[in-house]
Amino acid sequence: MGFKNLFRKKDINVMLADLQAEGQEGHGISLVKNLTLRDLVALGIAAVIGAGIFSTIGNASAAGGPGVALLFIFTAIACAFSALCYAQFASTLPVAGSAYTYAYTSFGELIAWIIGWDLLMEYAIGNIAVAISWSDYFTGLLNGVGVHIPAYLTMDFLSASRGFDEAETLMAGGTAFAQLTPGLQAAHEAWVNAPRLGSLPLVADFPALLIVVLITYLVYVGIKESKRTANLLVLLKLLVIVLVILVGMFYIKPTNWSPFAPNGLGGILKGVSAVFFAYIGFDAISTTAEECRNPQRDLPRAMIYALIICTVLYVLVALVLTGMVPFSELAVGDPLAYVFERVGLNFVSGVVAVSAVVAMTSVLLVFQLGQPRIWMAMSRDGLLPKVFARLHPRYKTPSFSTIVTGIVVAVPALFMNLTEVTDLTSIGTLFAFVLVCGGILLMDNTGQHKGRSGFKVPYYNGKYLVPLLMVTVVGLLLTFNPTGLQNFFSLTDGTESGWDVFKHKIPLIGFILFCIVITILSFLRSLSLIPVLGLITNLYLMTELGITNWSRFLIWLGLGLVVYFIYGYRNSKLNQQFIKRPGI
Ligand code: ALA
Repeated sequence: MGFKNLFRKKDINVMLADLQAEGQEGHGISLVKNLTLRDLVALGIAAVIGAGIFSTIGNASAAGGPGVALLFIFTAIACAFSALCYAQFASTLPVAGSAYTYAYTSFGELIAWIIGWDLLMEYAIGNIAVAISWSDYFTGLLNGVGVHIPAYLTMDFLSASRGFDEAETLMAGGTAFAQLTPGLQAAHEAWVNAPRLGSLPLVADFPALLIVVLITYLVYVGIKESKRTANLLVLLKLLVIVLVILVGMFYIKPTNWSPFAPNGLGGILKGVSAVFFAYIGFDAISTTAEECRNPQRDLPRAMIYALIICTVLYVLVALVLTGMVPFSELAVGDPLAYVFERVGLNFVSGVVAVSAVVAMTSVLLVFQLGQPRIWMAMSRDGLLPKVFARLHPRYKTPSFSTIVTGIVVAVPALFMNLTEVTDLTSIGTLFAFVLVCGGILLMDNTGQHKGRSGFKVPYYNGKYLVPLLMVTVVGLLLTFNPTGLQNFFSLTDGTESGWDVFKHKIPLIGFILFCIVITILSFLRSLSLIPVLGLITNLYLMTELGITNWSRFLIWLGLGLVVYFIYGYRNSKLNQQFIKRPGI
């Protein structure tokens, strides 16, 4: 096994020629080129606005207070750098597969595999999270109209088990059952009433399973139908988010905004995973590149437009929510519905709950649509078995991959816990963003895009700007957050010490080392400013996700490497070419 082979790259020209040949010769059926700029922006918004703004924003606001609006802005900036890099790739290489395909041409096969594997995590695990939130809102709605499904059929095992333990502890301390939060009551009820296999309670989230099955069917029967459904759902959810902002504005009490960051920077940063999760999805647009009418012009625009629209809405929603009620009340699963109930507007609360169900349905739709196209791209390259690239003769969708995606998302959605899956999705996606920004730097360096038409990330010379920026940030930190610096060098935190404290600093130490290296490289090689800032901001957000998430993420990547070395390395098309022409 040659080390060099691990980094064999696909040639952009060969890829574009292959794609054209495939379409002309009719071996394989081409995907239908149906999507316009408006459809793409709609797809982006459909993927982005979902569980993040309807659900996970609650806990983020409860930890960070109104200041979480700033986190939404910072995260949007990090996403915008990545969006520009995605846009250049998508415009240069309008083929299905998104960041996976881009990495194949810039970093080579191994990294491409890693990123493809990582994207599967973003889409599949992300959709598990959305399906779980969908189920929460959906069962809430059913309860509202008097239809009660037993709690053990609508909840994951871990939430029921943890909730039961917490409820028991509280009740042992004298709290009455009726005084427990609705969430704890449901968990307790689920655990106690569930049928048992031996002593094991059978608790599972069936609505989450059902919605995934339904969406998978829709995606299976065709992109056109999916597109129409997505456009309609997007319009509805945009209207409702605007309604939340316009009506909520009149109930803002400015005193709730003071203090703006009640738990300091640390409190705001606790929301990184939830806030970033809210933005995930605009990159999914790039998986439909082969189905766009004019990908080079429309893909970059669509990503940026979708990001701008969502950012404005998110910041406004964060300010409205934290302005309407004291921030500490927002630790609920349905914060948008909750605040209106709290001010006595039950009708608006109901409308919001219905639209949350609608919004999350469209997120599910786009991710279920994007994921099989990544499997397909990987299979075309020989890294996965051929069957993953098979197109349905009538519907012209990647049929086998779509069904596999359905199973991979639907089954875990029965059992998994929301927070755990949100964290994992966020770290996986941030990693993909980091690699895409790195890919643009490499592409610039090797001159691969030279002479090509289409969108390019604007070049600003980072030679002096990156070092200047670093010095400024360090200066600001030393001036305004000297205790943060002291804490960084301390190996005790009041409850723990030594390795237990140090291990949590590992991601940050890695980040600082990275910053030093990239600053030096920027100076020596006049690197392009935007991708460098994309790398730095996304990596920083990754460092905030904690060592436990890093460990899980690394285990997932390790598993991916095992699959690659067992199957992909040998079956890769590039490997076949190499065997046929070993002299090359
Ligand atoms: N951004 C998507 C959501 O919030 C994943 O549901």
